[in-house]
Amino acid sequence: FSKIGIIGAMAEEIELLHQHVEASNQFVKAGITYYEGSLHGKPVIYCKSGVGKVNAAVCTQILLDLGADCVLFTGVAGAVDPKLEIGDIVVSSSCIQHDMDCTPLGFARGVIPYHERSEFIADERLVKLASDAASKLFSGRSLTGKVLSGDQFIASREAVQQLHEIFQGACAEMEGASVAQVCDLNEVPFVIIRSMSDKADGSAHVNFPEFTVKASNHSYQIIDEMMKNI
Ligand code: ADE
Repeated sequence: FSKIGIIGAMAEEIELLHQHVEASNQFVKAGITYYEGSLHGKPVIYCKSGVGKVNAAVCTQILLDLGADCVLFTGVAGAVDPKLEIGDIVVSSSCIQHDMDCTPLGFARGVIPYHERSEFIADERLVKLASDAASKLFSGRSLTGKVLSGDQFIASREAVQQLHEIFQGACAEMEGASVAQVCDLNEVPFVIIRSMSDKADGSAHVNFPEFTVKASNHSYQIIDEMMKNI
């Protein structure tokens, strides 16, 4: 890759990039600052998108227009697969927008009407790099699965069970599938890496602030390890 794009949604999720990337240049576009530099000698451009699918979509398109030829997303999520504990890692096999709902028109939940596809498949090579890094650093505490995105903080047992039943999702967050869709439209490879800050249940609003820094750091460690082999 000639320029590796890295996105986090919140300050906590890009804090370690600020600490480790030797930044040489920065640009502001659409209110988002893009930092160009190198990490383990590899050219990177990283930024904080802000929360939610619109922020993530705008951010991703600009990142690609600035020359990123792959996109890694680093951050936290709520666990949907009951096997996952707080701090564990999910590497995206694919992404779906769980809040896309045109069921009154006869479309299944998550289906984007009249669009070529609604489930966006992550790049095989990036998935392998990320899952190898996760196995090395967090042995037995990572899985590759479906990332569900929506403009909703999931915080009830019923909601999280429904997401697992309907979509067989691994985790729920608020950006991955919109990053994935923008990458798909531009034919650019991507992978989403998420560490669990909470279990998207009745305790999520307490766990999220408590564990976001730790989980963000786990996710960053995967990116850092990937950079050595990318
Ligand atoms: N990000 C971290 N935890 C989340 C949750 N429970 N729902 C949506 N996004 C999240």
